[in-house]
Amino acid sequence: MATPLRQRPRTRPDGPYRCTACRAVSLRWVGRCPACGQWNSLDAASDLARGSRWAGTAPGDRAAVVLAEVCADTAHPLPTGVSELDRVLGGGVVAGSVTLLFGPPGIGKSTLLFQVLSSVAATGLDVMLASAEESLAQVRGRAMRLGVVPPHLLALEGPDVEAVEHAVASQRPALVVVDSLQSVADPELTPPAGSLAQVRACVERLTRMAKTSGVPLLLVGHVTKDGDLAGPRAVEHLVDTVLSFDGDRHHALRVLTSVKHRFGPTGEVGIFEMHDGGLRAVPDPGPRMLEDRMAGVAGSVVVPVLQGRRPLLVEVQALLGPGVAGAGARPRALGVDPARADLLLAVLSCRTAIEVPPGAQLFVAAVGGITVSEPAADLGMALAMASVVTGRSLPADLVAFGELGLAGEVRTVPGADRRLVEAHRAGFARALVPTSSTCAAPEGMAVRGVRTLAEALAVVGADAAATRCAAAGGLSEEQDGRRGEPGTMPGWPTVAAAASL
Ligand code: TYD
Ligand code: MG
Repeated sequence: MATPLRQRPRTRPDGPYRCTACRAVSLRWVGRCPACGQWNSLDAASDLARGSRWAGTAPGDRAAVVLAEVCADTAHPLPTGVSELDRVLGGGVVAGSVTLLFGPPGIGKSTLLFQVLSSVAATGLDVMLASAEESLAQVRGRAMRLGVVPPHLLALEGPDVEAVEHAVASQRPALVVVDSLQSVADPELTPPAGSLAQVRACVERLTRMAKTSGVPLLLVGHVTKDGDLAGPRAVEHLVDTVLSFDGDRHHALRVLTSVKHRFGPTGEVGIFEMHDGGLRAVPDPGPRMLEDRMAGVAGSVVVPVLQGRRPLLVEVQALLGPGVAGAGARPRALGVDPARADLLLAVLSCRTAIEVPPGAQLFVAAVGGITVSEPAADLGMALAMASVVTGRSLPADLVAFGELGLAGEVRTVPGADRRLVEAHRAGFARALVPTSSTCAAPEGMAVRGVRTLAEALAVVGADAAATRCAAAGGLSEEQDGRRGEPGTMPGWPTVAAAASL
């Protein structure tokens, strides 16, 4: 039965209003709380009233000031002691800041933040873990696995957000971790822990606590593998910094990316590796990502992708296998965007002579546990497909990047210089890049601009073979004999002469 509306006063003061059930804030009065659905629960939130910061000053007393003369809020960050995290945060956590670390369950969020607590505690500062999800016995078990537990590390068990506020007020730690947002609860609210109303209310309370006490706060939030809400994404606007922690659970590499950062640049990336003794920073992931690569195999291309602003060398592989019943002609994709893989196969078929033989199934994968979503990987992915269809391997020292348009044109991508420098540093001597990418070639590296995918195929010597291959409906004996042989790359300058390119 619908709950009758309380008699609404004829005039209502200007908002904001706060729900007495879930504490969500609404700028105008409504009969039913938009956040928790409770009827007649909105009351004027005088503490949030517009202008309340200025109570006591008449509007006429306030004049605009010269911004250049305003004292800047220069925040000195507290280093977390975890080098890759400090890099992403631009030095560490700022006093009173709230940082949300989100990622899928089991990726290593608790491990990472426990390592932060341990290293700050080891400097002699008191730090606090509010463990709403795991018992202190479980936390202690993990701590022993990770090494020595410093005496300055305090721990509080239980979901009550009020208990966290009290402990912070009385024990004044230098840093607080709340693990996790899905498990803490405001005892004044009726919805269960993990509901949107609870997550939002707890983040509001904890943020207020951080701002008034000056204690930096790190919050853990789980998201599903699809990056779906269940809370954390819905509170991004309430916090200062949002970090995403991701990777393939079955691989050791983990990528930490800053999605939002009020105290520094976003897009910074930190790379970690999960070991038996916890997460280890990987300051130079290049060699680690390509160490198992088998050079000279058809269908393999290395692509310098940008994770945030950091270049990473990722091997993209393609394989032509027997057709899977009911799978159709669409490529099967792993670690790359399936829609992108579809589109690239269409471009390859329509703009070049390369065709997947009837009845065969194309597989495309980015290896190493990194998901490649950048359009800059298009050219590399299309070359990998062409390479496996023609049976011609590409030179082992080649990298390729560029976005592909539907007309088969190779389009410019950002960060060409950074990509080339990283590839050169890892020992790659040749690169195929968009013609429009204006960048200086690293010394000793042969960099070739290509306008179209067809031109790129001609450069690596896959086009003629492909034409014959498509005409014959498969590989000819002659081509079959060349399986695994690198392309001839006509017109490609020698590495010695490359510096002049
Ligand atoms: P955890 O930090 O609990 O993940 P989250 O908080 O994101 O849910 O760690 C999850 C996985 O990490 C778990 O499956 C075990 C593994 N792990 C290690 O491999 N080595 C270690 O030293 C630790 C502590 C965990
Ligand atoms: Mg956890």
